[in-house]
Amino acid sequence: MSSTTYKNVILVGGAGDAGKHILNALLADSSFNVTVLTRIDSKSTFPSNAKVVKVDYKDKNEIKKALTGQDVVISAIGGSAHFEKLDLTLIEASVEAGVKWYIPSEFTADTNHPRFSSIPFVSGKLEAIELLKKHQSRIAHTLISTGGFLDWGFDNGFLGFDISKHTVTLYDEGKNYISATTLPSIGKAVAAIIHHPELTLNKRIYIADASFTQQQALALFEKYSGTKWTVKHITTEDSLKQGADSVAKGDIVKGYRGYIMSAIYSEQGASDFRGKTSNDALGVKTVSLEQAVKEAVERNKANATH
Ligand SMILES: NC(=O)c1ccc[n+]([C@@H]2O[C@H](COP(=O)([O-])OP(=O)(O)OC[C@H]3O[C@@H](n4cnc5c(N)ncnc54)[C@H](OP(=O)(O)O)[C@@H]3O)[C@@H](O)[C@H]2O)c1
Repeated sequence: MSSTTYKNVILVGGAGDAGKHILNALLADSSFNVTVLTRIDSKSTFPSNAKVVKVDYKDKNEIKKALTGQDVVISAIGGSAHFEKLDLTLIEASVEAGVKWYIPSEFTADTNHPRFSSIPFVSGKLEAIELLKKHQSRIAHTLISTGGFLDWGFDNGFLGFDISKHTVTLYDEGKNYISATTLPSIGKAVAAIIHHPELTLNKRIYIADASFTQQQALALFEKYSGTKWTVKHITTEDSLKQGADSVAKGDIVKGYRGYIMSAIYSEQGASDFRGKTSNDALGVKTVSLEQAVKEAVERNKANATH
């Protein structure tokens, strides 16, 4: 079923890692009227066919004015916007502006999973969910769990694989499953979710290209890079302790990574969506782990020669 009720769509954070792929997918779909909301002082750039509205996020009336007439607000905010709890401001403004549907900036592991919800930095996302549930009679919501960013996480080493150095850090021997989604697939999934309110309104939707263990990914990295990799080991419990230590020392980025790795690679599987994904129901095609690894190795080679 395709929805005509939700035509006017506004995206916040449309130049971000996830946001630019969501924007591409929305702009490629002629059934949507797409607007991007951005900070008044943002240096972000957008495709020339995107309508862009700049606002001062400190001025709720200005935000409310920008959101009036919109059917759906999609938040793909990142970085310090979570610490500043921008989703809460945007949700309140959306309710006042009469927006019908709010999609908060989740795009990660299952924030409802105890291993993930206990991470200190996740509190902003949890508060947004609480606020959306409180306002559910006035505005619908959809929570999108994507697991790790598959292509992004391979390219920058976030998932433990260092392609340039042929080195991997295996968490708990690399035997537990995680689910992960490439950024283009996240974009397509967001568009499909808006087309299928009958499946997605007021629900958590799980999306994934692939579910795999680090050991499976390592075997593919060795195949496509044509060499044996160096393997390092850490337990998810040690990763958790290192995360807490780094935060205590003020290294938030390292600390954040320690917490996240501990949650997603643990046996409890905060990012294991096997048997729960909506890709088929929404018609969102998947990229296999093998394809994702092959392309990541190719990108790494191409970058090394530039
Ligand atoms: N699953 C994963 O592996 C993974 C990895 C990374 C992130 N994530 C999650 O995915 C979501 C999007 O993250 P991302 O990395 O794509 O985001 P990002 O690139 O860091 O930022 C997206 C946009 O947020 C806006 N923004 C940044 N700081 C802001 C601030 N202080 N105030 C207001 N707006 C601000 C900017 O938009 P303008 O310049 O247009 O204002 C920016 O382009 C987040 O919820 C994040 O937690 C998941």
